[in-house]
Amino acid sequence: MSDIEVPKGLTNVIVDETGIATTDSTGNLLYRGYKVVDLVRKLGFEDVAYLIVYGKVPTEQERNSFFARIKENSMIDGSVEDVMRILKEKDVMRNIRSIVSLYPYTSEKSDDLLVEIAAKIPKIVSDSYRIAHNLPLVDDADGSFAERFYYLITGNRDPEKSKYLERLMIMYMEHEFNASTFALRVTASTLADPVAAVTSALATLKGPLHGGASAEILDFFLGFKSGEDAVKYIDDKIEKKEKIMGFGHRIYKDMDPRAQYIKEQLRQMAGDSSLFRIAVAIEERMWEKKKIPANLDFYAAIYMHLLGIDQDFYTPIFAASRVFGWIAHYNEQLQNNKIIRPSSKYVGPTGLSL
Ligand code: SDX
Repeated sequence: MSDIEVPKGLTNVIVDETGIATTDSTGNLLYRGYKVVDLVRKLGFEDVAYLIVYGKVPTEQERNSFFARIKENSMIDGSVEDVMRILKEKDVMRNIRSIVSLYPYTSEKSDDLLVEIAAKIPKIVSDSYRIAHNLPLVDDADGSFAERFYYLITGNRDPEKSKYLERLMIMYMEHEFNASTFALRVTASTLADPVAAVTSALATLKGPLHGGASAEILDFFLGFKSGEDAVKYIDDKIEKKEKIMGFGHRIYKDMDPRAQYIKEQLRQMAGDSSLFRIAVAIEERMWEKKKIPANLDFYAAIYMHLLGIDQDFYTPIFAASRVFGWIAHYNEQLQNNKIIRPSSKYVGPTGLSL
């Protein structure tokens, strides 16, 4: 079979099939065939995670036993907390990647191990941050996945804010062949173990063009006093041909449905505040000048800020949610596997001799 050349970055190249998520012709994001905007209104995080992983909306019994498996695996072995005390690493994403990779898991079967990895992430996020900042550890609060996670990252119990966090985490859970998911599938295609595959995904997610974008948005956003301020900054960045974090997408050229959903949630939370008006002014300017839409990360960063969540947790929250999408993709890759190994067009020198 002769090689075929494709656009850089595999833009618009279909490399495999998936039954987990897609964007339909009217721009709705679907998880296993259901519109995400419907799922988020009717189901909780645990239900949607079960749907993504097992392909069906769970019965109450199925959801409760899935959630019980997560809860019973959600604490961290003391020896690993000792490692975190030695590392004292402030970069939470580095901690997740390192600790996920070295953790002494007890599960044998792949499905159990993948759920055990996912279950550990919220506590790894909390413990590693608190140890690096000399704060006392907080143990899991009772309550839903989102309520426990909100408590672990803020130290506060707030059912309303936890509910807002839950809605955002459902938006982050899955997005077909994004870079970190594709990295996981490449690793899985070599028959590497689940820990290796999730470590590949975590390493890839960290990049500012992907999951790392949300952590950089407040750096510029919070400095604006008015919409005019913000528009001037945007015009300046465009003039210099510099990228603005939180904008653009490989799939969404007109509108990221997740961004619009979180924008409406933000309007609910922030009302007609100057913060919200500045965000909209930036979105409108980017569209007016570049026809580039806001992606999920733009409004998500402002939304998490209003929930009192530190920027260091933004990409970790993305990871703690997206890991359920990664579980589904790991399993799907192995259902009909062929090692992923593309060709390349050689443009280097030939015929040299020493
Ligand atoms: C996520 O794939 C997924 O599904 C990802 C994700 C998920 O759920 O997994 O949705 C999560 O990663 C969201 C994206 C977060 N990243 C950012 O916000 C970083 C800023 N965005 C850009 O780097 C960019 O838009 C990407 C990486 C998101 C998309 O890259 P593409 O598909 O190559 O962008 P494009 O072809 O539409 O861009 C064409 C041109 C660019 O040309 P290059 O400089 O890349 O050669 O449009 C311009 C730029 O000139 N452009 C921007 C811009 N994004 C594109 N100009 C200014 N600011 C931007 N943000």
